[in-house]
Amino acid sequence: MANPSFIIVAIDGGAASGKSSSSRTLSERFHLLHADTGSYYRALTAELLRGGVTPTDLPGVKAALSAVSFTTRVTGRSAEIELSGHTIPDAEIRSAEVTAHVAPFAAIPEVRAALLDYQRGQADTARKNNFRGLVMEGRDIGSKIFPDADFRFFLFADPVERARRREQQGLQDQVAKRDTLDSQRLQESLQGAVLIDSTHLTLAQVVETLAAPIAARLAA
Ligand code: CDP
Repeated sequence: MANPSFIIVAIDGGAASGKSSSSRTLSERFHLLHADTGSYYRALTAELLRGGVTPTDLPGVKAALSAVSFTTRVTGRSAEIELSGHTIPDAEIRSAEVTAHVAPFAAIPEVRAALLDYQRGQADTARKNNFRGLVMEGRDIGSKIFPDADFRFFLFADPVERARRREQQGLQDQVAKRDTLDSQRLQESLQGAVLIDSTHLTLAQVVETLAAPIAARLAA
């Protein structure tokens, strides 16, 4: 029988807005499967780049997409993507090259379509693995992937603060440039979501804001 208390939490927001750290913390607190869809777009980008495909080469992108299969490896509470049976090392998906190419690839409708059902299928993966729900983070989770999610949050922060966070992590990133490429999706996922400005909040404060309504629902 389907678990009636199974919950889906959608967290959208721009680059370095605090989505990953807060989603991971929520997944631990409430025993939710965590799906970082940015890592899915990054892994696919790495795979396309490995094959010598560029974002302007649409026939090459389509051919590569039709040859790749997507499966999931659940590691701890994390739903990691496997491309044709293999995972891509974290160092590669966070590399400056992948970071520079991911938004242009993610803007291609065929790329988004290729990951759509896969992302929706993570709810079943969570159920099969006895999680209490799913927390999925990205850019279009509350708008396209799970518009009926139980909770829809949108995190944002001042661009200067976001650039500082990336620098502190020792990562090269042009957060403002990626946000421009992602802007339409960001606008759509903002509609109807609970907005949280994380500029002056600590991670613990962001998590408390997100966790309060979830805890209330699960206690009801
Ligand atoms: O680096 P950050 O955590 O902010 O970004 P990410 O979540 O790793 O996502 C990397 C890129 O993937 C974004 O800049 C988007 O272009 C794309 N993306 C997307 O288009 N849709 C999603 N649901 C998630 C990511």
